[in-house]
Amino acid sequence: MTDIQSIIAQMTLEEKAALCTGASAWSTTPVERLDLPELVVSDGPHGVRRQPDVHSMAEKSLPATCFPTASSLAATWDTDLLYEMGQALAEEAIALKVDVLLGPGANMKRTPLCGRNFEYFSEDPYLAGELAASLINGIQSKGVGTSLKHFAANNQEFERFAISAEIDERTLREIYLPAFETAVTKAKPWTVMCAYNKLNGTYASEHQRLLTDILKNEWGFEGFVVSDWGAVHDRVASLKAGLDLEMPGPKQMRVNSVIEAVRDGALDEAVLDESVRRILQVVCQAAQTPKGSNGSIGGEFDIAAHHALARKVAAEGMVLLKNNGLLPLQNPQHIVVIGRAAQKAHFQGGGSSHINPTQVDVPFNELQKLAGAAELTFAPGYPEGAEFEQGLIDEAVAAAQVAEVALLYIALPTFKESEGYDRPDLDLTEQQVALIQAVTAVQPNTVVILNNGAPVVVSDWIDGTAAVLEAWMMGQAGGGAIADILFGRINPSGKLAETYPVRLTDTPAHLNFPGENGVVRYGEGLFIGYRYYDAREVPVQFPFGYGLSYTTFAYSNPRVSADAFNDVDGVTVSVDVTNTGPVAGKEVVQVYVHDQQARLIRPCKELKGFVKVELQPDETKTVTIPLDFRAFAYYDPAYCQWVTENGQFDILIGASVADIRSTVTVTLQSTLELPSVLHRESTIRAWLEDPHGKKAFEPMYQQMMGHLTRMFGGSDENGSDTIGMDTTGFILDMPLLSLLHFQEEALTQPADDIVDLLLAQVHGVKA
Ligand code: BGC
Repeated sequence: MTDIQSIIAQMTLEEKAALCTGASAWSTTPVERLDLPELVVSDGPHGVRRQPDVHSMAEKSLPATCFPTASSLAATWDTDLLYEMGQALAEEAIALKVDVLLGPGANMKRTPLCGRNFEYFSEDPYLAGELAASLINGIQSKGVGTSLKHFAANNQEFERFAISAEIDERTLREIYLPAFETAVTKAKPWTVMCAYNKLNGTYASEHQRLLTDILKNEWGFEGFVVSDWGAVHDRVASLKAGLDLEMPGPKQMRVNSVIEAVRDGALDEAVLDESVRRILQVVCQAAQTPKGSNGSIGGEFDIAAHHALARKVAAEGMVLLKNNGLLPLQNPQHIVVIGRAAQKAHFQGGGSSHINPTQVDVPFNELQKLAGAAELTFAPGYPEGAEFEQGLIDEAVAAAQVAEVALLYIALPTFKESEGYDRPDLDLTEQQVALIQAVTAVQPNTVVILNNGAPVVVSDWIDGTAAVLEAWMMGQAGGGAIADILFGRINPSGKLAETYPVRLTDTPAHLNFPGENGVVRYGEGLFIGYRYYDAREVPVQFPFGYGLSYTTFAYSNPRVSADAFNDVDGVTVSVDVTNTGPVAGKEVVQVYVHDQQARLIRPCKELKGFVKVELQPDETKTVTIPLDFRAFAYYDPAYCQWVTENGQFDILIGASVADIRSTVTVTLQSTLELPSVLHRESTIRAWLEDPHGKKAFEPMYQQMMGHLTRMFGGSDENGSDTIGMDTTGFILDMPLLSLLHFQEEALTQPADDIVDLLLAQVHGVKA
């Protein structure tokens, strides 16, 4: 074990300051005198984007496997598979001499317009957290580090370097932080990358509450926090807030500013030492995993095995959105393949995650391999850009007319989706929509295969299709995976990790996006994704958790380990799932929790568990899912903590958020003893609802009521209200203090003193 404290003791101030700023675009500053090597980092998240020269930001990277992007990974709902993919990523990182892979991204999909959603998992924090944790665990199991990003509230590309995300505390805790929290507590990423944006007015890179109080102190994060590339503004302020490493480098002026700040007393050297300690810990940990083959980069990993794994992952993530029975294809003899993306696969997104693949499946060729003797013809269907070319549509229609089946490969172009800018709309290009409409008009056996990183509007064209497969940005082997699914070699089992809305104007953040004057207000609060559509009863195109299979599943015998339990013990829910169809398949069993009554508004249901299970025809398996404290709790800003309440909860077991197959009602006993949060302005209702408040105040309340009802219009001699209102309801919502002021003449001491006395009793202090 390296004694890091003794190393720090030997380091000069200059060396310490230099360690906290990158030496190049992708490496930290080595301290040769003390045998401390550099640490090499690389993007991430779904492949290793290793620059041959660490000083270069955007050279063509060394070849590496491009796995499917996070939208696709999330739709697998398969934590074991993500772990396996993580291991493969680590093997490539080792071969390419990379110590830390910059990913995964655990930001929420607040709106489908975020250009970078393809790099994020889900609109649901539970799902995103579990998946991120598995991927991290897989990568780190091989001695390669990760950088969980972008912490936090980086949910759009518009003005991403500066915009302030204005988020209330409860929404932050329940929606935007939990995926990070789960990944940090379950998988201990070596590093966390702070976001570019501001959170409630403070840059994430200078956000002490976020980086130190919550991440490091509350969640126990032991690694170092690295800036997103260029996210630091005031280096000293960021160090104080808990931002350990600034990237990229070199930045001598920043180093100097740290040295000066220590010298003139503006920065406590202990703060710098703490960042140095965190960085050195990771540097030393990384050094334990030897990197590269024969000391050179571009080393060896099993290219073929990783390509095969990428194909498997891609297939698991593909979501069959519609199927009238045409799929799997039954030996058609003449297939027309339409769409540029069949010849040139659209398998990844633009920006920092862009991988130089080891090889790329050509979707058309992969189809041909599985199509046997069938004749395959091709028509490009649409141009590369935004132009409209009727000729391409006419050509495709003519080809479709004479074929048995048309396979339409529709890829959302990069100008509509990428890192760096948000999507202008949710639409395919005008030409693509016209193409699908024209082809389906002449060929009922049309399958649309989509390549995109986030949902598109399908309502203009879906009715005419026989089937639609959401293939996502499917990674370099996705072309083969599509063929596997179309020909039934693989039974689709992907389920949506994000709602497919009918139209843009239905989406939760629509009226609060992308923000103005440097601020984006998260006005929809907790209600993003299915939480919103559910609560507002807004129809969706395809719900969260949805996806078709070539077989069917029956759910039976739902049960819980106890009908009544406390929040420490939790409860376990089980259900039997049977494959009732003709072929083997996989089902994603989802468990949602609904709180029947709560002090604060809660979503109708929230995902709290899931399992992906494989079943042969007629086979039954029991699926068991534990539910703990957090499955029932909400974050109550009044108490600054997660809270459970006594009461009844429905546990909903389903095949999607909108396809609940069984419900079990249970009773929760909270073990929490919450302090009273009553204060001088608390209402009568609050006093009566608070257990301590009720005890102290109730005797007085009874006395007051007679007087008050008379005063505020109690019944007259005819039995009707003199001021035509329910006085009790009115009184309940008045602050006690205000009420007392109304009856001052009946009081023996000032109203303020009475409230102060009661508060002292409630809070257990002497008045
Ligand atoms: C991105 C990060 C990425 C970094 C390094 C930034 O622009 O937001 O996700 O890891 O660049 O390429």
